[in-house]
Amino acid sequence: MNPVIKAINFRHACKQFDPEKKIEKAAMDLIMKAAHLSPSSFGLEAWRFMVISSDDVKKRLRPFCWDQPQITQASHVIVLMAKPGLTVPSNKYVTQNFKRRGLSDELTKAYIEKYKNHMETEVYPRMTSYAWASKQCYIALANIMTTAASEEIDTCPIEGFEKDGVEKILNIDTNLYEVSVIVALGYRAKEQPERRRFPFDNIVEYIV
Ligand SMILES: Cc1cc2nc3c(=O)[nH]c(=O)nc-3n(C[C@H](O)[C@H](O)[C@H](O)COP(=O)(O)O)c2cc1C
Repeated sequence: MNPVIKAINFRHACKQFDPEKKIEKAAMDLIMKAAHLSPSSFGLEAWRFMVISSDDVKKRLRPFCWDQPQITQASHVIVLMAKPGLTVPSNKYVTQNFKRRGLSDELTKAYIEKYKNHMETEVYPRMTSYAWASKQCYIALANIMTTAASEEIDTCPIEGFEKDGVEKILNIDTNLYEVSVIVALGYRAKEQPERRRFPFDNIVEYIV
């Protein structure tokens, strides 16, 4: 079987982790490498990933995550944070981001202009900078889950949390970062339940 599909088949939203089984540092480094290498729109990388293994921090976090047991049973919890402020076209970070491509000044200027136009016409009328930066975080989330699964490590993505409470308990400077999504990682305590998906042809359309 294709190894990526094998990992995707292994992955499920794990509801019960074995609290005794901890993920090795080398495996966490591999998983975080996948997050780090994830693509982002315009290559902005307006994100930061916090990896929590402290039992004390997980315990304090859980009440703000709908009291979901995955938070404390999991070996590690990753908090994916968006950095919406960095995406503002006038921010010098945007300029620096395009400059690092090593293009001519003229092309760099053209890219920045294209970016500004895209944000003003396509993004801002539909969503906040936080929502847009958050969308990028979900790409890293998917890579985290698939890479973990390739190492037979289980995950549960978590959107069931109170953003303000999580940011407060983790002492996050919300002028810079905003929590986008959370993922718990560890080893399953129970067998994976049967997968539920609508039929392939209802979901996938080929235009030829
Ligand atoms: C962005 C996102 C957020 C989710 N949040 C939660 C959550 O807070 N708690 C939970 O138990 N499951 C959560 N899930 C898991 C979904 O319910 C699950 O992925 C879906 O039912 C499909 O099941 P499967 O992942 O096992 O194939 C979330 C999934 C995604 C993609």
